[in-house]
Amino acid sequence: MDKKLSRRQFMTYLGVGTTALVGATTGIDRVAEAASKVPEKVEALHNWQGNIPFRPIEPTNQDDIILPRGFKYDVIAAWGDDIGNGEKFGYNCDLTVYFPIQNSSHHGLLWVNHEYIGTGSLFLYPSSMTDEEKFKIEQYNLGGSILEIKYEKGRWQLVKSSRYARRITANTMIDLTGPARGNHAVAGVTEVKGTYANCSGGATLWNTVLTCEENFEEDAERWGRNLTHYGWVVEVDPFNPKSKPKKHTSLGRFSHENAAMTLSKGKRLVVYMGDDSNDQYFYKYVSDDTYQARLGHQNSRLLEKGTLYVADLEQGVWLPLDINRSPKLKEKYKTQGEVLVHCREAAKLLGATPMDRPEDVEVNPVDGHAYLALTNNTKHGNFYGQILKILEKNNDAASETFSFEVFAVGGPQSGFACPDNLLFDRKGNLWVSCDISSSKLNKDNAYKTFKNNGVFFIPTRGKHKGEAFQFASGPRECEMTGPWFTPDEKTLFLAVQHPGEETTDPKNPTSRWPRRDIPRPAVVAIRGF
Ligand code: FEO
Ligand code: CA
Ligand code: CA
Repeated sequence: MDKKLSRRQFMTYLGVGTTALVGATTGIDRVAEAASKVPEKVEALHNWQGNIPFRPIEPTNQDDIILPRGFKYDVIAAWGDDIGNGEKFGYNCDLTVYFPIQNSSHHGLLWVNHEYIGTGSLFLYPSSMTDEEKFKIEQYNLGGSILEIKYEKGRWQLVKSSRYARRITANTMIDLTGPARGNHAVAGVTEVKGTYANCSGGATLWNTVLTCEENFEEDAERWGRNLTHYGWVVEVDPFNPKSKPKKHTSLGRFSHENAAMTLSKGKRLVVYMGDDSNDQYFYKYVSDDTYQARLGHQNSRLLEKGTLYVADLEQGVWLPLDINRSPKLKEKYKTQGEVLVHCREAAKLLGATPMDRPEDVEVNPVDGHAYLALTNNTKHGNFYGQILKILEKNNDAASETFSFEVFAVGGPQSGFACPDNLLFDRKGNLWVSCDISSSKLNKDNAYKTFKNNGVFFIPTRGKHKGEAFQFASGPRECEMTGPWFTPDEKTLFLAVQHPGEETTDPKNPTSRWPRRDIPRPAVVAIRGF
């Protein structure tokens, strides 16, 4: 047993098998010795009085998903797997959204994003292929997958005979809606080819998915695509295999991380969104009209007419990116369509606050506040990131003024770093997946104590408010993305993105997860809650 083993690690090991038991007979003194060196963690352990719903794990660099005692995971689909209807699961999965079938927590559709290829090119095709052939393979492997899944015989599995199984790819035709549709700023088009760079996103109140286009520039340039056709929020109806997806230009064009939908006090639709880049901005969209549940899918039109705002944190003001309400925009733009296509420049012109990579934002179902993950900004010396809590005036999501608090701060003192995806459970506890860049993991640097990227549990109230407890650790060099619960909160879905990302020789990969051959991005279901 490792001399540096902390008490919490020791207790975790007690739960995981024979090596642990061998250690247990000899390890007590060493545990005490190690414990004296990590006072804050021991204190957290002593304060722990059973209301954390699992026994936290310690950071690890094992090439597997490590979970607390009593939890296990099933691989539902890995890159290249048949998903039904002759389609295959794409590369680097991210956002997952579970859509119950007949309210079931055991049977439903799972939307999964496919974000980028990166060093996956080592495994996707031989280097001898022509660029044209390579691009076709890349384009098929990005976008999203719709899977039908079922929990049967003690595990989650794919329903391969599904009539819903579908791939949306970088070549699927997609309609534009809103002010930029047909605008000269998008070369006058009303539909565009494909979606890719799909990072995170969210669900609508009418059972469709919002998938967000993030880092699209490089591929657009390589593939010879028009940059202005990407960087949007895309709506897909997973239950209608014939439906044509929509890019809602009212929500602006930038490196969209996600889209968190809620309702204002007056029942207008509000969508919070981050632009994941150093020194970029935090946005929200407020619909003109009100949500009416009985209208079902017709509520989608609320995403076509409304106001996009960008945050000024210093003044606590939401600045309207609206050419009629912010006359300064007229110095540079003639139409609202142009403003939306050039959001970043327009936001800067209005004096929005540049932030440290605003990624996921989610609304806490208990306190109603939006929480925003700022991943990091190493150029500012912000290596570990933080999570903000946004307090809208009068607790109304449509307010034009707000204040904010710093809810939790990453760092060796708190045990997590670089928060990316957020998820709330029904009790208002925050589940946070972390994204320390794989090139910086497991090196002798500012991130050395964190080991592999993982998932953390952070209560938002009670005596452990703001404290992080590690729930999962991912395979080597991966990022655990897209956390999503079934309605009964007995299953947590996660997308394991870019395992083995630092591989340079495909015959000698740095991860062999999940099938002990080559690294394969895969979506998993975790049970044991
Ligand atoms: Fe694709 Fe911002 O993570
Ligand atoms: Ca992300
Ligand atoms: Ca990320």
